[in-house]
Amino acid sequence: MNIAVVGSINMDLVYLVPHIVQAGETLHSTKHELFFGGKGANQAVTASQLGANVDFIGNVGADDFGELVKLNLQDKGVNTAAIQKVGLTGQAIIQLADSGENSIVLFPGANFLVTAEQIQADRERIEKSDVLLLQLEIPMAVVEAAANIAVEQGVHIILNPAPAQQISNSLLSKVSILTPNETELAILTNLKTETEEDLFQACSLLLQKGVGAVVVTLGEKGSYYLNQNERGHVQANQVEVKDTTGAGDAFNGALAVGMCRGNSLRESILYASKVAEYVVTQMGAQPAIPTYFRVNK
Ligand code: RIB
Repeated sequence: MNIAVVGSINMDLVYLVPHIVQAGETLHSTKHELFFGGKGANQAVTASQLGANVDFIGNVGADDFGELVKLNLQDKGVNTAAIQKVGLTGQAIIQLADSGENSIVLFPGANFLVTAEQIQADRERIEKSDVLLLQLEIPMAVVEAAANIAVEQGVHIILNPAPAQQISNSLLSKVSILTPNETELAILTNLKTETEEDLFQACSLLLQKGVGAVVVTLGEKGSYYLNQNERGHVQANQVEVKDTTGAGDAFNGALAVGMCRGNSLRESILYASKVAEYVVTQMGAQPAIPTYFRVNK
């Protein structure tokens, strides 16, 4: 199982708060913790913990956080040879409310300094992979450059379109599996995403644009999927939620592992859901994942 991740690496500065701060309000945080984060890094760490060989292409800052986040990836088994140090490490300032809701301010830092040239220089890492995992916390031109290399070599692309933004038809046509949440799906399609019929219409539009399959993550309502042959809904199990940060990333990392194992789309979604359900019971975006998840479940 060879997975390339081209994406973001952050330090997450998490503040526990009674509620998400309102405009003009000053609020005391009850606890502050640092966690390793960044959508790309979270997805890479999940896939690595589940037994995949993971190669990361991206940037950390030439600062103390940069050293720490890179060492963390190495500790978690991710190959960091193609990670460069430049500028300041990306940060996510995260308010985590008692209700479990969160709100995030992103400082992209070094993540926005990743270049298409850098991806070209490390293109073999993508070419030798079974799956390329992409998200949108790095410049869109870089995401497109990585996708072009993958498509030329027949490498499957899983694109997590987060944070939400518009995506060109050209990029969509190269994606094997697109994994929006409901909000991202609505922004991508300009359609409602409230009912199952809405989801079907919105996902169908993306299939018409050449996406291979769409998997919509619906939080506690599970997920909905559609490809040319099947559609379905996977229910979520009730768990005691501590922190939802990184749940979507764990889902994507595990989905990539499931597909690498040659499982069906539905089997891979069931597996990814179980991993994500575990992650929300733990604090931070990259909790240690129990080794029993390495066995195909
Ligand atoms: O998806 C969660 C991640 O989004 C956090 O780890 C934070 O770094 C932001 O990038």
